[in-house]
Amino acid sequence: MNAALHVCQPGYESFLAKEAGVAPEKTGPGWVLGGPVPEDLCFAHLSLVAPRELTGRSVNALAWAAADAFAESARGERFDAPWPFLVEEAGLPGLARRAKGVEEECLARLRAKMSRVAKLAVPGRPAPGPARGLFVYAADFDRLFVSREAVGWGPRRMADDPQAPSRSYLKAEEAYGVLGREPAPGETVVDLGAAPGGWSYSAARRGARVTAVDNGPMKGGGLHPGIVHRPEDAFKFAPQAPADWLFCDMVEDPERVAGLLEDWLARGWCRRFVVNLKFGRRDPLPLLRRARALRGRCAVLKVRHLFHDREEFTLVGERAADA
Ligand SMILES: C[S@@+](CC[C@H](N)C(=O)[O-])C[C@H]1O[C@@H](n2cnc3c(N)ncnc32)[C@H](O)[C@@H]1O
Repeated sequence: MNAALHVCQPGYESFLAKEAGVAPEKTGPGWVLGGPVPEDLCFAHLSLVAPRELTGRSVNALAWAAADAFAESARGERFDAPWPFLVEEAGLPGLARRAKGVEEECLARLRAKMSRVAKLAVPGRPAPGPARGLFVYAADFDRLFVSREAVGWGPRRMADDPQAPSRSYLKAEEAYGVLGREPAPGETVVDLGAAPGGWSYSAARRGARVTAVDNGPMKGGGLHPGIVHRPEDAFKFAPQAPADWLFCDMVEDPERVAGLLEDWLARGWCRRFVVNLKFGRRDPLPLLRRARALRGRCAVLKVRHLFHDREEFTLVGERAADA
């Protein structure tokens, strides 16, 4: 079977290869080819299962090769429901335009060959989890990886909100998608290291009641009536009652922050959490192992290098009832 193609944020390929335990057969900016798809990956955004490598000199040649590979593999397959059709690219200058051309031309060819099936194609990244459809990754101007199966790990680009006090806001918004839940009206959120207030704002605009803990000032004092600022040391903060959500995005030693989350879970102080660990320049793999060890205490735990994360990764999860 062909090796899987794992797509990540450019610059994080070596961490991804190490995490997946593969000696990369090939690698490029934002992708690693090697090994099977493991059960869990932090640094990948998407994995293409056993892709075929196709080459072509023009947009049409590439698009037709992808469409023909799809048509051939779909022979005898029933299509009764919408299926995902995704074309992504490695981020080289000018490649996005070429990938768009491939997407349009590939769909046109599918319409001509199998119009009923083509009408069911839904462009864009599928929901997190395994998916069957057509997945195309342009690694270069003349080279595509094409597969019928993919695993989406959850990260995706979020739309900006000009009202949000910080760009960190995007990480919280993205984390809800990974978890499949978001703060609901009336729920309580403790946000440790909250300033200038993006994560707090993200929860408060959904109607949650937020205690924003930070020694530093919140932008505009919090900007939302649902936010109460507590200018305190987050490591000393104890909630008066268990919170529905713990948020934590502190610029602190990530091992110390991991310890704080372990403590909150052991004490039953939160039901769900979104916690960011900033590994900076150090090797993130030992920290990743520590983060994953929390699985025993969680009903759900996902550790992801979000689209909007930099030298950091984010834990989202739900405490096990008996933790
Ligand atoms: C990256 S910023 C948080 C951004 C925030 N999530 C947002 O959306 O705007 C990190 C914050 O952690 C706070 N912080 C770091 N150590 C802290 C501590 N021990 N107690 C409270 N706040 C702390 C800093 O003051 C800083 O405001």
